[in-house]
Amino acid sequence: MEMLGIDIGGSGIKGAIVDTDAGEFASERLRLDTPQPAKPAPVAEIVAEIAARFDWRAAIGCTFPARVQHGVTKTAANVDDSWIGTNARQLFESQTGNSVIVLNDADAAGIAEMKFGAGRGHKGLVVILTLGTGVGSSLFINGRLVPNTEFGHLVIRGKAAELRTADRARQAKGYSWKRWSKHLSEHLCYLEFLISPDLFIIGGGVSKKSERFLHLIDCKTTIVPAQLRNRAGIVGAALAAADMK
Ligand code: BGC
Repeated sequence: MEMLGIDIGGSGIKGAIVDTDAGEFASERLRLDTPQPAKPAPVAEIVAEIAARFDWRAAIGCTFPARVQHGVTKTAANVDDSWIGTNARQLFESQTGNSVIVLNDADAAGIAEMKFGAGRGHKGLVVILTLGTGVGSSLFINGRLVPNTEFGHLVIRGKAAELRTADRARQAKGYSWKRWSKHLSEHLCYLEFLISPDLFIIGGGVSKKSERFLHLIDCKTTIVPAQLRNRAGIVGAALAAADMK
C-alpha cells in the first residue's frame, strides 16, 4: 500500500509517499521550511501544501514533536506554546480535506524501526530513544506501542534528562563524546532501573555516529543503533496512517 507520511520538525517539514510493505519511499522526499514562529495555522498550511504537491487524496500520517493524545497536542517542550491543547488532527484534516492521524515523532520513528529496522522481530520490552533537538522515546511490548512515554523528560539530578542527553545539548555545551556518553549512561541506567527493558535502540541524527559513543555507554541492557536514519519518522507516520484503515 502507498501512504503519505509527513514529519514535522523544528526547522523542516518533510513528506514522502511511502511503500508501507517495503518501508521505502515511493516518491521523492519533499522538504519545506517550518514557518517561524511555528504556530498551528501556518504549520497546517505547509502540511496541506505538501499533500497538495503530491496530489494526495487519502489518509495522511503526520508526526509532531510533542505528546499527542487522540489528535490533541498536549505539550510543547521544543515547539511554540500555542500547540498546547490544539486539536492538530482536526486542524490538519480541515486544511488538507483528508483524514489525518497525528502521532508523536519518536513513536512514529519507533514504529518504523520495529517493523523495518533494528527492532524487527524483537519481542519483550524495547525502548527507542531519538537523540536530536530533544530526546524522544517510544516503548514497545511484544511489538505493540505504548504511546507518549516521554522518557526524555525523566528528571535526573534536578533537570529533564534531555537537557544533557539530546544531541543538541552535546553540541551546545561542547561535550566531548566521553562526557556526553556519561550523561547518556546515567539516563539509560535510570530507565533500566525503572522498567528493565530487553533492548535499547538509539536513533536520531547522531545514531549515524554510533561508533563514537555506543561503546562508552555503561549499562547492562543491549544497545544498538537505529537503522532507518532520517527515513524513520516519515515511514512510521505512513505506517500509522495505513493502520488507521
Ligand atoms: C518532546 C517529545 C519529542 C522529542 C523529540 C521532546 O522534547 O517532549 O515529545 O518526541 O522532544 O522531538
